[in-house]
Amino acid sequence: MRVDPLIYFSEELASLKEQGLYRALRVLDGEQKAQTSIDHRVVVNLSSNNYLGLTTHPKLRERALDAIRTLGVGSGSVRTIAGTMSIHMELERTLAEFKRTEAAVVFQSGFTANAGTVSSILGKDDFIISDELNHASIIDGARLSRATIKVFPHRDAAAAREIVSQLPRERKRLIISDGVFSMDGDLGALPELCDVADEFGCIMMVDDAHASGVFGRNGRGTIDHFELHGRVDVQVGTLSKAIGVLGGYVAGSKALIEFLYHRARPFLFSTSHPPAVAAACLAAIDVLQSEPQLIERLWDNTRFFKAGLQSLGFNTGSSQSPITPVIVGDAPRAMKLSDQLFQEGVFAQGIGFPTVARDKARVRTIVTATHTRDELQFALDSFAKVGRSLGVI
Ligand SMILES: Cc1ncc(COP(=O)(O)O)c(C=O)c1O
Repeated sequence: MRVDPLIYFSEELASLKEQGLYRALRVLDGEQKAQTSIDHRVVVNLSSNNYLGLTTHPKLRERALDAIRTLGVGSGSVRTIAGTMSIHMELERTLAEFKRTEAAVVFQSGFTANAGTVSSILGKDDFIISDELNHASIIDGARLSRATIKVFPHRDAAAAREIVSQLPRERKRLIISDGVFSMDGDLGALPELCDVADEFGCIMMVDDAHASGVFGRNGRGTIDHFELHGRVDVQVGTLSKAIGVLGGYVAGSKALIEFLYHRARPFLFSTSHPPAVAAACLAAIDVLQSEPQLIERLWDNTRFFKAGLQSLGFNTGSSQSPITPVIVGDAPRAMKLSDQLFQEGVFAQGIGFPTVARDKARVRTIVTATHTRDELQFALDSFAKVGRSLGVI
């Protein structure tokens, strides 16, 4: 009889269940919105990255529909063969102008933007100096590059400097940090890291996935927020979070972008976005500039909700952004908190190892511009009730 070679899958899944780390996928019954139906239950949704509510914005829908009518539903090729449409070029020009860089290139996702860029701009003799909490796509890109990876403690620019000072100057050295850290909501030590990059002649790269549309003037990101224009060589952003659609991009010099056109493997070997995606992203950049009140509302809601959680006595870590973690410690407790909140009508996903450290399991919340005060107050009341019954507060 044949022994099942895949038996380890069930063993691994059983072990995840034992550790309280097994999660069934939550399924949205309709649109991605602040209050929506998930698994057939109407809930206040505190788990999306839809910071500005653009996933359902009428202007984005209209531009996407228009592009489908006039340009079809697919691009039919990778960018370097026949899959570059004029709307892709228009989006890249618009992003470069928005980010105040010479040029920009769009990837299929933020993940491929990071992984494809880091892996192509460095080689096996080079060095990557990376914050310990950087996103998985940076870590994977670093591994693919075969460069030596040096990790510095979270936000510790002095430690990064110490590492860099020991490295040979003739090699390429890339300092890389998230702009906003996705699990803790704190900001990278960007001004200090730029100083280190300037002092030692390193390449400076920032992943601004959670800052685009949130920080800086009209949502230009952390480089604008910290006034670091001209000091960050490689700026990554996503089109999948505040922008409300799908994709990632790199903004920087013309030479960098042309290099990526020739070397970044997801750009070379995977089909480009459907035109409707590019059209909706273009509409989103318009909305960032014509409806700044959305970003103001996002920050009003952030201040209200964060202060509410803190006054209830929850440990919200060191967040400086609309991402507010409720840190509870072990994974089973975090999952229980999340499950009971769901029963009360609040969706806030539990997050455990390996996404965060084993003893830092949490429920992560993200408010959006489109939550009403009543919805946020309802969520706070639910956190109070469940948090007390589980002894978290
Ligand atoms: C910090 C960070 N970088 C990159 C990504 C990847 O972006 P995308 O979802 O567009 O692939 C994410 C998304 O989870 C992220 O949190």
